[in-house]
Amino acid sequence: MIPAASTPNAGEASRATSPARTPLPLPIVTGQPLTALAPMQDVTDLPFMRVMAHYGAPDYFFTEFFRVHAQSRPEKHIVRSIVENKTGRPVFAQLIGEDVGHMVRTVRELLKLPVAGIDLNMGCPAPKIYKKNVGGGLLRDPAKIDELLGALRDAIPGLFTVKMRIGFDSTENYRRVLDLVAKHRVDLLSVHGRTVKEGYRSDVHYDFIAEAARAVPCPVLANGNITSATRAAAVLAETRAAGVMIGRHAIRNPWIFRQTRERLAGQTPFTPTLRDVRGYIEHLYRETRQPDIPEAAHVAKMKKYLNFVGQSVDAQGAFLYDMRRAMTEAELFAVCDRHLLADPERPFADEPYAGVIARPNCETPHESCSLDTITA
Ligand SMILES: Cc1cc2nc3c(=O)[nH]c(=O)nc-3n(C[C@H](O)[C@H](O)[C@H](O)COP(=O)(O)O)c2cc1C
Repeated sequence: MIPAASTPNAGEASRATSPARTPLPLPIVTGQPLTALAPMQDVTDLPFMRVMAHYGAPDYFFTEFFRVHAQSRPEKHIVRSIVENKTGRPVFAQLIGEDVGHMVRTVRELLKLPVAGIDLNMGCPAPKIYKKNVGGGLLRDPAKIDELLGALRDAIPGLFTVKMRIGFDSTENYRRVLDLVAKHRVDLLSVHGRTVKEGYRSDVHYDFIAEAARAVPCPVLANGNITSATRAAAVLAETRAAGVMIGRHAIRNPWIFRQTRERLAGQTPFTPTLRDVRGYIEHLYRETRQPDIPEAAHVAKMKKYLNFVGQSVDAQGAFLYDMRRAMTEAELFAVCDRHLLADPERPFADEPYAGVIARPNCETPHESCSLDTITA
């Protein structure tokens, strides 16, 4: 890993010549740094966005990625998260792909929907994805990025956003990619401060996010391991980013966006109790239940969310141990009652307990960016 270089501000130069930008949607609290729920495949669907909005919405939502290829049509369940979204918060539609013609075709279809903007995925680390030179695979090929960003910028009259990692297996292309982001007048850049090869568990290189915030003219969202409102404030101070994007720790703690707003306003953030967490789990269970999915399958799906929630319930991982053995709805909620209602007024820990790990425990996702393969 090379250190973040101190470089001239590419943004200042392009700001002088570029046409007027479409303004970003206002945050919930005017003047505060932005918050966004990170796009997460198999997680950030419509029911999950509704649940997040109930506990304290982020300023922006991003959809799961629409896969773009010769035969692709926008996936119906992702379209629902845009057209049936009543959270009141803007939704950016994320695309993953590399074929310029099909990407532009898909953009035109998505622009007929009430999207806040179009987001390009340049970060997915699943080998099945990057081997097709899409997602994080694009970061190996700046010439391809140049072509794709140019075509997408031409096709998108409104907001065009990019989410990227800091490189593929090194950061050698990072500065070039940031220059391309500036050149093609991207409106908002989210930077996950790891390379593709670093997966999801390495330290996050916030110095590289700080470099992006200096280098591009658009606002930058800092992403990676923002575990609490306190960490959000610290990362904003360290990177000078315009906002934070939070993924796994919003699954663990759906109050995190509200707490971040309160923290940034100088107020004492809300502290949920274990009783509140019991309520969240029940809410999530009911909201994400699909009538055609058998109970056992829904319980299995719930365990994927609860892997994250359990990181803040107890330091021994006892809730996680018991939760993973529940097979039915009744068993699952009996575990919740035992662990969350025995001492219901106890605060839910603000940070995950050290050493309490979400499972499955593989370092690298193999098939997709989904909860089956990603750990915290
Ligand atoms: C289950 C899961 C699915 C993800 N799916 C996507 C995705 O569809 N698009 C994307 O750009 N990033 C995806 N990511 C990456 C997240 O958006 C985010 O960059 C990453 O989790 C780091 O942020 P965090 O530490 O706040 O979770 C996914 C991450 C997880 C855990």
